[in-house]
Amino acid sequence: MAVLKQGDLIFLWSPEKGDTFLIQLEKGSKQDTRLGVILHDHILDLSPGDSVTTHLGHEFCLLEPTIYEFSRRVKRKTQIMFPKDTGFILLALNIGPGSTVIECGTGSGSLTSVLAHFVGDNGKVFSYERRPEFSKLAEKNCCKWGVADRVEFKVKDIESGFDEREVDALFLDVPNPRDYLRQAWEALAAGHRLGILVPTTNQVTQVLEGLQEENFIDIQVVEILLRPYKVNSQRLRPEDTMIGHTGYLIFAAKKSLRHRRDGLSNGD
Ligand SMILES: C[S@@+](CC[C@H](N)C(=O)[O-])C[C@H]1O[C@@H](n2cnc3c(N)ncnc32)[C@H](O)[C@@H]1O
Repeated sequence: MAVLKQGDLIFLWSPEKGDTFLIQLEKGSKQDTRLGVILHDHILDLSPGDSVTTHLGHEFCLLEPTIYEFSRRVKRKTQIMFPKDTGFILLALNIGPGSTVIECGTGSGSLTSVLAHFVGDNGKVFSYERRPEFSKLAEKNCCKWGVADRVEFKVKDIESGFDEREVDALFLDVPNPRDYLRQAWEALAAGHRLGILVPTTNQVTQVLEGLQEENFIDIQVVEILLRPYKVNSQRLRPEDTMIGHTGYLIFAAKKSLRHRRDGLSNGD
């Protein structure tokens, strides 16, 4: 059983109120909660699954941190992507151990941390961002999750194109993706997929027109809705509020220019 030490991330959950915190353990630090104060020193040397009490005597359980919780809580200076979308993107773009992926923009690195988590030690994420301060923040966030070495953070405007070719997947989260479809086409391997997030329906229309012009095929548009429930077995019902809207996801595949006819003759 792993013993918690200085610098480890740990997820705190209150059985009483359901309150949660994701903290990085630091000797001498404390976590304030509405149920009292938790000293990091009281957590050191315990293991996930154990619990501690606040100075007011309320219990908090220690749980393994998940990429789900980490990615939605990253320190942010930009809009970020949320697990309801990032989980679907991984499947739609077929991202897994060993994949090479391009994303733009890096922003605060929420999606970057998810991509880097799933490509594993043999994969690579090339993350493009034109604002150096965002790229730095994203790198810090990815460091915290321990995956920064799987990412090449590039401070560059993608107007001039991507440096890589034949990548397995490419994702655009920029305000004007319609303008970069040609650049995406050039970097992506034929038969592989591009994903795009846009917040409004008129942008979806613009992107669809662009994808058709650029020879992308198998185009799909989806919107992911996630409805959490109040966990009471006697009165099970949805939460009163939910994330109403993040964006529309568009996926498309790159068609190569090669085409082989079947070679069969109809006898004419
Ligand atoms: C919404 S944020 C991305 C958030 C990110 N997906 C996340 O999960 O944290 C969009 C980012 O794209 C960057 N950006 C916009 N246009 C760009 C371009 N042409 N080249 C590089 N970065 C660009 C912006 O600076 C901004 O940081």
